[in-house]
Amino acid sequence: MLKVQRGFQRYLGRFLSSSNSNMSVDYSVQGSVAVLEVNNPPVNALSHGVRLGLKTGVEQASRDRNVRSVVIIGKGQTFPAGADIREFGKPSKEPWLTEVGMAIEASPKPVVAAIHGTCLGGGLEIALFSHYRIAVPSARVGFPEVALGLLPGAGGTQRLSRLTGLPVAMDMISSGRHVPIKKAKEYGIIDEIVTGDLMKAALKFAQSIQGRPLKDRCLMFKVVPNADKLEEFTSAAMAQVKKKYKGYEAPVVCIQTVRASAELPYEEGMKLERDLFLQLQGSGQARAQQYAFFAERAVSRWVMPGGSYKTAKPLPVRSTAVIGAGTMGSGIAVCLLSAGLPVYLLEQNEKVCMILNFKPTLNYSDLKDVDLVIEAVFENLDLKRDVFSKLDKICKPSAILCTNTSTIDINRISTATSRPDKVVGTHFFAPAYHMRLLENIYGTQTSPDTVATVMKLGKTINKVPVLVKSCHGFLANRMNGPFNTESLFLVEEGASPQEIDQVNEDFGMPMGPFKVRDLSGIDISWRINREVAKALGTTITKETKFLGGNRYCGLNDDFFEKGRYGRKTGKGWYLYEKVGGKIPTVDSETEEIINSYRQRRGIIKRKITPQEIFERQFYSCINEGFRILEEGICNTPEEIDISWIYGFSYPKFRGGPMFYASQIGLKRVYDRICHYHETCPYSIHWVPSRLLKKLAENDVPFSQWANHISKSRM
Ligand code: 3HC
Repeated sequence: MLKVQRGFQRYLGRFLSSSNSNMSVDYSVQGSVAVLEVNNPPVNALSHGVRLGLKTGVEQASRDRNVRSVVIIGKGQTFPAGADIREFGKPSKEPWLTEVGMAIEASPKPVVAAIHGTCLGGGLEIALFSHYRIAVPSARVGFPEVALGLLPGAGGTQRLSRLTGLPVAMDMISSGRHVPIKKAKEYGIIDEIVTGDLMKAALKFAQSIQGRPLKDRCLMFKVVPNADKLEEFTSAAMAQVKKKYKGYEAPVVCIQTVRASAELPYEEGMKLERDLFLQLQGSGQARAQQYAFFAERAVSRWVMPGGSYKTAKPLPVRSTAVIGAGTMGSGIAVCLLSAGLPVYLLEQNEKVCMILNFKPTLNYSDLKDVDLVIEAVFENLDLKRDVFSKLDKICKPSAILCTNTSTIDINRISTATSRPDKVVGTHFFAPAYHMRLLENIYGTQTSPDTVATVMKLGKTINKVPVLVKSCHGFLANRMNGPFNTESLFLVEEGASPQEIDQVNEDFGMPMGPFKVRDLSGIDISWRINREVAKALGTTITKETKFLGGNRYCGLNDDFFEKGRYGRKTGKGWYLYEKVGGKIPTVDSETEEIINSYRQRRGIIKRKITPQEIFERQFYSCINEGFRILEEGICNTPEEIDISWIYGFSYPKFRGGPMFYASQIGLKRVYDRICHYHETCPYSIHWVPSRLLKKLAENDVPFSQWANHISKSRM
């Protein structure tokens, strides 16, 4: 355990240099007002230097006879956006944030928090210790600690409810949502919204409240309103978080702690909050969620042969087009439109065009001036090559041509054009307007500027772009391959679809693989399997047991033949309440289809434990992840983990498959992979990765994988 924590601290340390222990607050006096200006870019996080500077500043202002009120304000883009996450897990240095807050609240001269940008977490706690809060209209406030597996640990849970009442406090703290300033004023968090120059407005406001009594302005003396409805509010909030954040510990603890603000005297509530904060901070979930926070930022620092995020220049994208108005194409078009980009949607079928509320077109020639095109036609190489060859002839030479292919090597598509440097994969995940992963794929000839353009576009349309090198299936679907096929083999051998789905959902996946199959359509995977067979120069029959040298399970085909395509036909692996229904129930026909399949193939059903189900799906995908790293398809485990979190809703509280593997211990994972390789020799995906073997044998901590990954490719 200790080793895991040290490894994790070293991991966090990789991201930024050690924190500045000098004071990071500028103190000045303007007339009768002391101004404490927090200066710790980029987000004015409340590092040790900031805490020290605020406490010293407030004390200095108290002593200074010329000062009659105090302003706390952030320099640069924001008011403090929270505690310094890099300091978590390190020995804490006084003053703690609560001590700083207490010094502010105890100030004999009124303290005004002047807010712009994002006033979050510890930043909002500082504002709540202040006697007054003013803000510009564009500011936002919130307690996002829950997203890091925590609760507000410097009075937020005990003080917000005294201002807003329990329902708002429970909702804000358990969801972590950012609240726009107008709403924050309605909730009573903000006293005044000011326009124009914030510093000037803050000085004026601070002068206007000089000499006023302060006791009424100290939240510690207030009582929580409507505390008699405590049970009602708590059970409503609890029911909501248990449904919405299944498996996450922090939201539940947040509600319990806010509840305490109405039950316990202030000091006792504060102590409980501190204890629960430390308890959560030591949990595996907080470690995983904080890892995911930094990993999400790390993936934007992409590197490819010949360029990187530092050197490449994104080209301007002012107009776009999408080819194909199917489910993916129209979803992608909605993403682009939502970001304010004009979109042509090219479709062959006139009927489809009529119902869409943006520039529908049937003519390639309309696309001649667009800056970027995303092709989203059916997953067929010949069809895609044909589209690209047409686009190449019509589009202006500077236009970037993207493909939404989910598996096909980009190099096989780019050679249909005379501009392979401007061809790139932009793989969206279904449903495209909802899932945040954008897997950007470079081919051997794709230029770094083209990559920079689609990485930037990803951010513009509120996606999380991850860069990978082209190969069959890229990163996400390549890892998803063994994960999914193992689930079919498990049914073949004796498990039921619902047992498998349960194991996945207990782990934290929002849906098991069989419910996902019913959602995405069994006919789609049937069709894709035929394309794969065609590309391999073979066909699939009832007796096919191997495809491309790998074990093949034909169960999906049996469901297809019975017309059980999933939700769209009202039945698939499960039975639904109606065609297009969403509520799955177990169906006896499913069992019959599986039994007759086993009989036909001479398979004797055996009992499979939940542990085996888990290992075969999740460890096979981890093994593939290590191969992806050793082949240089991506550069870091963070790229894999973020792809799973945002592409397949992998639970953030587990960190992602690679981080999770590091937490279980690579030796254990490697041994089990070797075991399955011996027992399932016909599945190529069980051949143990060389990189995994090396890391496991040398017991390399997660923070040092990077060195071994680069060496493994030499
Ligand atoms: N501590 C340390 N570093 C932080 C940080 C924090 N609280 N918040 C952001 N950073 C770093 C990021 O890692 C990033 O570093 P990098 O450039 O080296 O990758 C840099 O600041 C800029 O961050 P973003 O790229 O995220 O910038 P954006 O402008 O897109 O977003 C933001 C700004 C909305 C403030 C976003 O950074 C954010 O949500 N930060 C986290 C806020 C948070 O969780 N606050 C609560 C902290 S816990 C707490 O306060 C406990 C208390 O209750 C005791």
